[in-house]
Amino acid sequence: MLNSEEILNLRKVYLSPSLSLSYEEPIHIIKGKGQYLFDAKGRRYLDAVNNIQHVGHSHPLIVEAAANQYANLNTNTRYIDQTIVEYAKALTKKMPEGLDVCFFTNSGSEANDLALRIARTVTNSKETIVLGAGYHGNLSSLVEISSYKHDGPGGLGAPDHVYTIPRPDGFRGKYRGEDTGAAYVDEVNQVIKNIHSMDKKVSAFIVESIMGCGGQLVLPNRFLEDSFELINKSGGLNIADEVQIGFGRMGSHFWGFETCNVVPDIVTLGKSMGNGHPVSAVITTKEISEQFNNGMEYFNSFGGNPVSCAIGHKVLNIIEDEGLQDNALDVGTYLFEKLKKIDHSLIGEIRGKGLYLGIELINDLKLLSPARAEANAIENYMKEAGILISTDGPDHNVLKIKPPMIFTRDNADELVSTFISILNKYY
Ligand SMILES: Cc1ncc(COP(=O)(O)O)c(C=O)c1O
Repeated sequence: MLNSEEILNLRKVYLSPSLSLSYEEPIHIIKGKGQYLFDAKGRRYLDAVNNIQHVGHSHPLIVEAAANQYANLNTNTRYIDQTIVEYAKALTKKMPEGLDVCFFTNSGSEANDLALRIARTVTNSKETIVLGAGYHGNLSSLVEISSYKHDGPGGLGAPDHVYTIPRPDGFRGKYRGEDTGAAYVDEVNQVIKNIHSMDKKVSAFIVESIMGCGGQLVLPNRFLEDSFELINKSGGLNIADEVQIGFGRMGSHFWGFETCNVVPDIVTLGKSMGNGHPVSAVITTKEISEQFNNGMEYFNSFGGNPVSCAIGHKVLNIIEDEGLQDNALDVGTYLFEKLKKIDHSLIGEIRGKGLYLGIELINDLKLLSPARAEANAIENYMKEAGILISTDGPDHNVLKIKPPMIFTRDNADELVSTFISILNKYY
């Protein structure tokens, strides 16, 4: 077996330098089990960041479902197959009525790209409205609509068909305070007017109901409800990107958009959907799917293959059988309350829902200057102490907590006490 240094050297030679590694001293993980990861020296880490492994690393029932289906058959959607229709039925059962047609894809990016393609076909327009600091994927079409990328290092800014609403952040954003929803909705209204003034039509508004790369940002009250209404009135379609936040993670609801009291026209899913296996989906209405069916056809070699569907279906069953949505509510609320009680000048805001929480660090209570270096250092100190978290947000000053859904109250205690001891020791 190669040691960590040898692997790092090979990585430098054979992998692209645009792939980054987490942590100043990267870790060499060789095993995952439940909410724990183990490195090559046998050290155990509490995983508080990998939301993809939704029901836990190496869940035996997922391994079994994958192995059984692989042993029997893995083809594509061009054959009559029971696995795909049963999964599509189970998945749409979790959606509000009307959202009952699935397209299967292989990554969050593919799902969002297809959602854009559907919206563009149905509206006969490309004009897309997005949120500042939003991230929707790695394809060229998505870098174009992801301010997190095109406004960041190496980015070329938004192309002409993309309109950016200021990140709706009541804490450090353009409008601040408790009741900022209306002010941010007005920005959406202005953009729609602007699009119309150029004799163009709105195609889509794409949004995460809690922003992930945007810094675990909970949207202001009514922002989504009122914005979605304006978009629909203008003839555009609302796309809810649930790639990070779906499948019960919010605790109170199965989907993030439900926490904002809206029903989107198109929903995109990914990440946790296959517990690490590449499977994702676009879900929409019959009407939209029929309008999209213009003869061009949608075929995806791997999307919706029986193995992916068997795994996805098993993830859904495990969430139900193990009560993981309830666990996200219980442990998430417990963790949130404990974090709220920490009294330290670096902590600007604790936010999030269920097991999707963020701690925004700031340097100065008046200026609210982002404590980016401190966030980076704390992420690394936490890792040294055996707990994996990460940082994000446009200023990279938000500590992100999004563990597998089997995280326990004891895990939450360990995370909080470690965080407090690091704050006390270094700041
Ligand atoms: C909100 C959101 N949408 C889409 C994507 C893209 O998903 P993938 O990396 O599976 O292509 C991501 C990835 O981080 C994401 O956070």
